[in-house]
Amino acid sequence: RQNRNETPEPEARQDFANAADTDPSLPQNLAWGRAILARVPASCLGSDLVRAHTVRSTDQLDDIVGTAVQAGRRWGARSAADRAEVLERVAWNLEVRRADLLEIMAAEGGKTLDEADPEVSEAVDFARYYAGRARDLATVDGARFLPSALTVVTPPWNFPVAIPAGSTLAALAAGSAVVLKPAALTARCGSVLAETLWEAGVPRDVLRLVHLEERSLGKQLIADPRVDRVVLTGSYETAEKFRSFRPGLPLMAETSGKNAIVVMPSADPDAAVRDIVQSAFGHAGQKCSAASLVVLVGSMASSRRFRNQLVDAVTSLTVGPAHDPRTRMGPLIEPAREKLLDALTTLEPGESWLTEPRRLDDEGTLWTPGVRVGVQRRSRTHLVEFFGPVLGIMTAADLDEAVDIQNEVEYGLTAGLHSLDTPEIAHWLERVEAGNVYVDRGITGAVVRRQPFGGWKKSSVGSGFKAGGPNYLFGFGTWESQRHTD
Ligand code: ALA
Repeated sequence: RQNRNETPEPEARQDFANAADTDPSLPQNLAWGRAILARVPASCLGSDLVRAHTVRSTDQLDDIVGTAVQAGRRWGARSAADRAEVLERVAWNLEVRRADLLEIMAAEGGKTLDEADPEVSEAVDFARYYAGRARDLATVDGARFLPSALTVVTPPWNFPVAIPAGSTLAALAAGSAVVLKPAALTARCGSVLAETLWEAGVPRDVLRLVHLEERSLGKQLIADPRVDRVVLTGSYETAEKFRSFRPGLPLMAETSGKNAIVVMPSADPDAAVRDIVQSAFGHAGQKCSAASLVVLVGSMASSRRFRNQLVDAVTSLTVGPAHDPRTRMGPLIEPAREKLLDALTTLEPGESWLTEPRRLDDEGTLWTPGVRVGVQRRSRTHLVEFFGPVLGIMTAADLDEAVDIQNEVEYGLTAGLHSLDTPEIAHWLERVEAGNVYVDRGITGAVVRRQPFGGWKKSSVGSGFKAGGPNYLFGFGTWESQRHTD
């Protein structure tokens, strides 16, 4: 690729220097990140890997699966300590390659620095945590863990490094080979990630990178009976489609969400506004975990002050290209269409805009954030996932009504409560139906080990083990003692 080992073009460096000098709001410790991002528009990092790993025929794919199964058996027979060591080297190499990963995440994945940088850290955390869990698996008394030979990993485009890293590293830690098929929209991010793992010592036949030229090859891969398990992060509809390709498919899928933050009169309004804005508009709302609803309870519902504060915070977000260090909300990865376009442009009965979204570019990828009030129960805005920068505000008379609103959606991925009242918090925790529940914190950005991540209801299909949690590796094999009694 061009420019990889060169200093930024003089012009770009000048821009960077100007941005750093003139924008006092930029955190100074991000200076190195700014230097990287100044080079991003020219980046074609990973393109050669995509070309080299594109699968064009059914025979080619058939061969990859066959050799990966063999490699998986050899990898699974190695000691857990061996595999853990490789994962620890992966953690180190992810740090070494951080600059490349940030560059490609901005250029291809539309990720701003403040979203991309923690994403690399999450991948590092996964590598270290699963290395530890691999060692633990080997020491369970009276039972031997038998890893599956082959796992297929199909990650999404919105977390193009952390999610493929998490699923792939878990499978590798457990002792399974992986066929990784990155999302087509972020094929280069997935490729640079795979390269980072190979460089750290993951054998190339144990981790196969595939980009598929034809959709039909995807169906072939999922339906192949030699595949022991498919890990999907994507929509509920995609999980259903995968299952239709192969009845009884062993699937671990984290799927859609329609997540709400409840704000009680007892809440700290400054903290609530900060967390709502970050959860709703981080990565332009393109996260399964994002807040797409806020439920204001009791006197909070009529608080003009709170609304003004929220409007000020939302309208002060700078929208722009991901590589510009001044950007606080980056682009949509695909131009808004159908469901999302509708959500950005059309109100439903009873609704009005608190801040109306505006399109800033011809393609329809840059939009200012939208906040709609007057959202009715059981309306489309209440129940349908939009996956973009639109937030709906609802109101409730009391906490029970607010939880009913949260639980009424068919998904159950994340949920938030802002309250400083302990009995209120306990009551909410008792009733809310979501895999990840957060109190007085944003509802995105689960931290490995501290907040294992996974959904409830239609946010999860297949194994209920949570990513980044103590049991996740169990999903990639069986226990010998169980085998005999099954
Ligand atoms: N794990 C991601 C988050 O928590 C999806 O936001």
